[in-house]
Amino acid sequence: MSQSATQPVVAVLGATGLVGQKLIALLEKRRFPLSRLKPLASQRTAGQQIQFAGQSVEVEEACPEAFEGVDLVLASAGGAISQALVHQAVARGAVVVDNTSCFRMHPDVPLVVAGVNNEALDAHNGVIANPNCSTAQLMPVLKALMPLGGGLQRVVVSTYQSVSGAGKEAIDELRQKSKLAVDCAPGEYPTGYACFARPMAFNLIPHIDVFMEEAPYQGYTKEEWKLIVETRKILDLPQLPITATAVRVPVMVGHSESVTVDFNQPVSLDEVTAALRAADDVVLSDGLTDYPTPLETEGTDPVYVGRLRRDASNPEAGVSMWVVADNLMIGAALNAVRLAEALVARGLVTPRSQCAHLFEPAAATA
Ligand SMILES: NC(=O)c1ccc[n+]([C@@H]2O[C@H](COP(=O)([O-])OP(=O)(O)OC[C@H]3O[C@@H](n4cnc5c(N)ncnc54)[C@H](OP(=O)(O)O)[C@@H]3O)[C@@H](O)[C@H]2O)c1
Repeated sequence: MSQSATQPVVAVLGATGLVGQKLIALLEKRRFPLSRLKPLASQRTAGQQIQFAGQSVEVEEACPEAFEGVDLVLASAGGAISQALVHQAVARGAVVVDNTSCFRMHPDVPLVVAGVNNEALDAHNGVIANPNCSTAQLMPVLKALMPLGGGLQRVVVSTYQSVSGAGKEAIDELRQKSKLAVDCAPGEYPTGYACFARPMAFNLIPHIDVFMEEAPYQGYTKEEWKLIVETRKILDLPQLPITATAVRVPVMVGHSESVTVDFNQPVSLDEVTAALRAADDVVLSDGLTDYPTPLETEGTDPVYVGRLRRDASNPEAGVSMWVVADNLMIGAALNAVRLAEALVARGLVTPRSQCAHLFEPAAATA
C-alpha cells in the first residue's frame, strides 16, 4: 500500500459505465476505507466530473501511468481494456478486482463470489476475477444446496438476462427502439440495431456473446459456457454436470433464472427450504404468488428465490425454482466492492511480484 496513506488509493477503471457508476456509488454508500478515488475511463469522457462523498472528482484517461500510486483497482471497462491495462496496474503494485471475463478461467486467478468462496482470495497473484453476472447470482443458491441429498447430481439453468448486462449503449438502444415500436403494426417493428443480434424491443434473443466451436460446447454461446465453467470453478466441483441456455430479454435491469437441481439421493422440499432460508445473501419467497421479478428487486443486494417446488419428473430428488437478482449489484459492482472489503480485512491489498505469467497472451479467455 502507498507509504503516504494508511488507506488504499482506489482506481475505478470504467468509471463512467453502468458497472463503474454502481461501483462508485457503493464505495460511498458502504463507506469503503479509501484515501483517494481515481475514476478512469476512455479519452471520450476524460475531464468529466463525478460526485463522490460530497466532492467533485475528475475522470482521467486510463493509461499505464494512471496507476502510479494506486493500491487497488476495480476494473469494468471490458475485456480488451483489462487485457491491455491490468498488468500495468499490477506491475505498479496494485491489486486488481476485474469484472471482465479476461482472467476468470486462469488457474492462478481466484474467481470469487463474496460469501461463497472468500477463502480463494488468499492465493491471489495480483488479480481477482469477478464472475459473469448470471453465474454470480446462482452461486449463493447452489452453495446452500450442495450439502443436501448426497450432493448435486445435475443442474439445468435457463437465464432471462436484462439488457443492462450489455452496457449503457444497450440500455439506450432498447429505450429508443421501444418508443418507436409502440405504434408499429405487427411485422413492421423498427430495424437497425447495434448492440444485439436481433431487434430487442418486444422480442427475446437466445444469443448472448459468440457461438462456441470447441468440443464439447459446439452450439453453445460463450455466455452459456461461462456459466458452466465458472460455476464449476467457484464451487470447486470440476465434474459438476450443468447445462445452460442464456436468453436476452427486453428488461432494463435484473437477471432471472429458471433453475432445476437434481440431487444424488432423495431430499425433502422442507430440507431445501430450510437450507435456502439459512443461506447468506438469499431471500426465499414462500407464497405461490410471492415470486420475485426484476423490476421489484432492482437496486437491492440479495439473490431472490421463488416458485420453489418439487420437480414432478424427479419428485424424490429434484427441485425447480426461480432465481432473480440485480445484475449490476451482486452480478457485478456489489460483488467487486465486497471482495475489495474482504481483501482489506484479510490484509491482502499488497503488491505481488510473481505474477507475470498471468498476462501472457494465452491467459485471456475473452
Ligand atoms: N453490466 C453488467 O451487468 C456486468 C456484469 C458483470 C460484468 N460486466 C462486465 O463489466 C464490464 C463493463 O460493463 P458495463 O456494463 O459497465 O459497460 P458500459 O456501460 O458499456 O461501460 C464501459 C466502461 O468502459 C469504459 N471504456 C470503454 N473503452 C475504454 C477505453 N479504451 N479505455 C478506458 N475505458 C474505456 C467506458 O468509458 P467511456 O464512458 O469513456 O466510454 C465505460 O466507463 C464489461 O466487461 C462487462 O462484461 C458487466
